[in-house]
Amino acid sequence: MNVGIVGTGLLGKAVATRLINSGHKVTVYNRTREKTKPLEKLGASVVDSPRKVAEKSDTVITIVKDASAVESVAFGKDGIADGRHDGLVVADMSTINPISSKKIAARYKEYGIIMIDSPVMGGPPLAEKGQLIVMIGGDKAAYEKCRSVFDSIGEKTFYLGSNGAADAMKIAMNLQISILALAISEGIILAKKSGLDPLLFLEVLNSTYFKTGMSQIKGPKMAKGIFEPSFFLSVMQKDLDEINYTAKEFGANLPVARLANELYQSAVKEGLGMIDYTGIMAYLEKISKGT
Ligand SMILES: NC(=O)c1ccc[n+]([C@@H]2O[C@H](COP(=O)([O-])OP(=O)(O)OC[C@H]3O[C@@H](n4cnc5c(N)ncnc54)[C@H](OP(=O)(O)O)[C@@H]3O)[C@@H](O)[C@H]2O)c1
Repeated sequence: MNVGIVGTGLLGKAVATRLINSGHKVTVYNRTREKTKPLEKLGASVVDSPRKVAEKSDTVITIVKDASAVESVAFGKDGIADGRHDGLVVADMSTINPISSKKIAARYKEYGIIMIDSPVMGGPPLAEKGQLIVMIGGDKAAYEKCRSVFDSIGEKTFYLGSNGAADAMKIAMNLQISILALAISEGIILAKKSGLDPLLFLEVLNSTYFKTGMSQIKGPKMAKGIFEPSFFLSVMQKDLDEINYTAKEFGANLPVARLANELYQSAVKEGLGMIDYTGIMAYLEKISKGT
């Protein structure tokens, strides 16, 4: 299948790598062209607009920061809509709120393009191994048509219903991740302040029912202050904006999500946006020092 990737940041690069390695013909575009160089070396065709990606592809996956970036690559100058052709399916893998997702799908429809939402759980390392969890919302026949693409990158796919359903599920998932990072951070900080070895704190936690992938894999790095990004803290903060916006629109009162957003916003203001989201611990440690 000819697959296009628009947006080769941390996740887009990993998804493109996996698709190339599984035998798909991949065309890529990124606003900052420099970031496509490693993919070019792997055999991707690099073009200079989302329109050209669409022209060369049966399926285009958009993996950009937020809803306004999705709109820009879709409907901006030389956008995906300008490269429309019969049978083109667009799958948006960016984490955006379900309300914006539905609006964007409706706008694509005006151009005769079917858009499905296809957000994922799991970061770049799992993408490269084809072990993402994929969630799909939108036209089921369109999903079936590009199923082989999702089977290449994911170990499990959930078809969740109409447009926006998968994005609603995804942001409910990211609410878990953002709060879990806060809980592990505060546990490590409290253990340290109590004179305990933070690695021992994790060992005890990971021996219980309350262990998580995060406490097992990211936890030891957090305890050592290593925050090499697989998912930027600023991108998690954007997701908390999406979560809180959706909660407001749908009438859910989520006080913990509001507080989490305030903390991640403060961390971004402190200049921590470009470290891993688990680096929220660095911010919490900083404010803990003054107390
Ligand atoms: N990393 C993960 O583990 C992960 C997992 C699941 C979902 N996601 C979601 O996937 C999306 C991408 O995340 P990421 O981790 O790959 O972030 P990233 O490394 O920061 O990449 C962001 C991408 O969006 C592009 N972009 C931003 N604003 C744009 C605009 N106005 N017009 C065109 N392109 C624009 C960037 O282009 P430039 O290079 O030119 O800045 C880059 O390609 C986000 O919605 C994120 O929430 C990420």
